[in-house]
Amino acid sequence: MLEILKYPDPRLAEKSENVEAFDSELHRFLDEMATTMYAANGIGLAAPQVNRLWRLFVIDIRNQDERYNRILEFINPVLSNGRGHVDFEEACLSVPGVSEFVKRKAEIRVEYFDRFGNPQSLDADGLLAVAIQHENDHLDGHLFIERVSPLKRRLLKRKLEKTLLL
Ligand code: NI
Repeated sequence: MLEILKYPDPRLAEKSENVEAFDSELHRFLDEMATTMYAANGIGLAAPQVNRLWRLFVIDIRNQDERYNRILEFINPVLSNGRGHVDFEEACLSVPGVSEFVKRKAEIRVEYFDRFGNPQSLDADGLLAVAIQHENDHLDGHLFIERVSPLKRRLLKRKLEKTLLL
């Protein structure tokens, strides 16, 4: 099991680098990501959350959307074709104890590689589109609490500071 970094750990603000080798080390790491995500009852986990600055994340929303009945692995993802807007209440394994509505694109296309280095593309909507945007933010060192209004952010930070002190 991998340790999940928690806010305000400064390592969560770092930018990740593209994966270069689609080898057994990558496969082992992806499997550990899945184990860690399930153990934490998360639906998504990005590599920098477990202190590995690789541009990859895993998502499993099979309990929320039957179209995706297995774990999804996105390596070196690139998002495009954002359309529409949706307000979704988000939470994050790296920011325990808080959730907040965040404005996201309602539909996106993601181009990425699978674990074997094959290029893939997927048009996502609903929860999957939101989850992909949330996880992709981690790869650039951003947390969802940065995407709420300044007033809400101050309230959230105060709540987080209290939580962390306990
Ligand atoms: Ni997160």
